Amino acid sequence: MVVGIHRKTIAYIDTQAIISNIQQEIQWMDKGTALYAVVKADGYGHGAVEVAKAAREAGATGFCVAILDEALELRKAGFTEPILILGLVDVAYTELMASNKLSVAVSSIKWLDQAQAILKKSNRTEKLAVHVALDTGMGRIGFKTADEVQAVEKWFEANESLYFEGIFTHFAKADSRDESHFNQQMEKFNVLISNLHQKPPFVHTANSATALWHKGCSSNLIRFGIAMYGLNPSGSLLPEPYPLKPVMRISSEISHIKQMQEGETIGYGATYRAHEGEWIGTIPIGYGDGWRRDLQGHDVLVEGHRCEIVGRVCMDQCMIRLPYEVAEKTEVVLVGQSQNETISMQEIADYLHTIHYEVTCGLTTRIPRKYI
Ligand SMILES: Cc1ncc(COP(=O)(O)O)c(C=O)c1O
Repeated sequence: MVVGIHRKTIAYIDTQAIISNIQQEIQWMDKGTALYAVVKADGYGHGAVEVAKAAREAGATGFCVAILDEALELRKAGFTEPILILGLVDVAYTELMASNKLSVAVSSIKWLDQAQAILKKSNRTEKLAVHVALDTGMGRIGFKTADEVQAVEKWFEANESLYFEGIFTHFAKADSRDESHFNQQMEKFNVLISNLHQKPPFVHTANSATALWHKGCSSNLIRFGIAMYGLNPSGSLLPEPYPLKPVMRISSEISHIKQMQEGETIGYGATYRAHEGEWIGTIPIGYGDGWRRDLQGHDVLVEGHRCEIVGRVCMDQCMIRLPYEVAEKTEVVLVGQSQNETISMQEIADYLHTIHYEVTCGLTTRIPRKYI
């Protein structure tokens, strides 16, 4: 998809806010803990490479991604820091990962056997670093039993071409008021790793929510994602231990304005019928940009006023009801502050009955990201 560089619909990314969020976490986390910035899904829609640069400046010592191509994008951009691929990767790419000095999550002995065979055959000297995933109650990937953990440790003792760099789990409810599921997972993790004779260098459990609300959670590495982007992992459920700074602001402009006559309609399906004299503005953003169709009825900000999106959101444009006539090219704020009014990413997520993660990840590359 092309990047819409010749348009005024822009997502501004405040790199100082990224730096501030990470630096606050570094102050908050236990000493001796490493922080890896999670930049998967193109940095949650913020732009992986630019986010990674800011994160490194703030003190992140490595990165987490979900798929091999995201790791290769960082290597291609010149990052030499450790990169951990959190998702499972087809064993066929073992050599590619080893030659790029990547670390990868692993969830089966069969995978380890196959990777070992591939590396032996290739006569490569680099070892592939592996983080063993434990499923303690997320139900996604990972070994589940003490027997399996013991078998994995024996496997590494007997085989040399893979390096046992880490062991980790992922919590399903670290952002919840009810801590029972979290505590069950924590206990299971602690029992499983107690079966190891020697722990690998990284033992990790913490995503943002765990880092913010569950200090001392058997983690010497924090996989810091959503909070780095200035968004509260719990939505608005749990208070932030330090104030997170929102990173993304989305704005556009009035591309067209007109005054309506009584009963004239707006948009596909003619779902909005105007009243006499109403001012309707058009803004160049639509569901082709990830500005979802369900946002009909939600507000945007013009000169500090909340203005409703009227009629259906089209693929590339949508229409808003203005309180008075404004000039073409007047700024429209879709996420962020305009005078004394603010629309947060959380407000958009609530309106869409989803989470802010999905909103930022869903913004397409057609909206240019500008770094400030
Ligand atoms: C295994 C793992 N660790 C860490 C993260 C980062 O989570 P968050 O963005 O909530 O900090 C994710 C995100 O989905 C993940 O899947």
